[in-house]
Amino acid sequence: MKIKLAIGVTMALAIAGAAYAQNVAVIKERQTILGGWGDAAKPVGGALRGQAPFNLAETQKLLNAIVDGSKKLPNLFPDDSKTGEKTEALPVIWEDKAKFTAGFTKIGADATAALAAIKDEASFKAEIPKVLSNCGACHKVYRKPG
Ligand code: HEC
Repeated sequence: MKIKLAIGVTMALAIAGAAYAQNVAVIKERQTILGGWGDAAKPVGGALRGQAPFNLAETQKLLNAIVDGSKKLPNLFPDDSKTGEKTEALPVIWEDKAKFTAGFTKIGADATAALAAIKDEASFKAEIPKVLSNCGACHKVYRKPG
């Protein structure tokens, strides 16, 4: 009896440990992608505000990161990643998951359109705000204010 119980407890701990490890990995993965967007957006935001010269290569780097990441991010908010590791994701994400992930589809489409449209500083200033407005719109609802 005692041995059976011990085995049962060990297995339960192993299963809980595995689930926890998975949460940590998926939360880290989405934060790495989003953190990359943040880093790539810094020089682009500076150029938009006139604090740095327009740079087509940096702009395309950001837009390509958004196109790529927006395809992966909808799968990186599974039900078992609400808690477990430090996350700024708000529980409201899981109340209407389709609406939340539509935000990634939209920013991906906007970035694809901007990649095609941006050729010079004038088109940069016209197109980039359309892409970047998605960041704040989503964070306002779905990310803990920090
Ligand atoms: C559809 C929703 C959505 C969109 C669009 C979005 N984000 Fe986020 N972002 C989130 C959520 C949710 C988190 C919190 C993730 C977590 O902590 O688990 C986050 C976190 C972040 C972080 C912190 C990452 C870290 O290291 O913890 C940065 C930086 C960031 N976003 C930048 C951006 C930028 C820049 C854009 C636009 C180019 C953007 N995000 C667009 C939902 C979004």
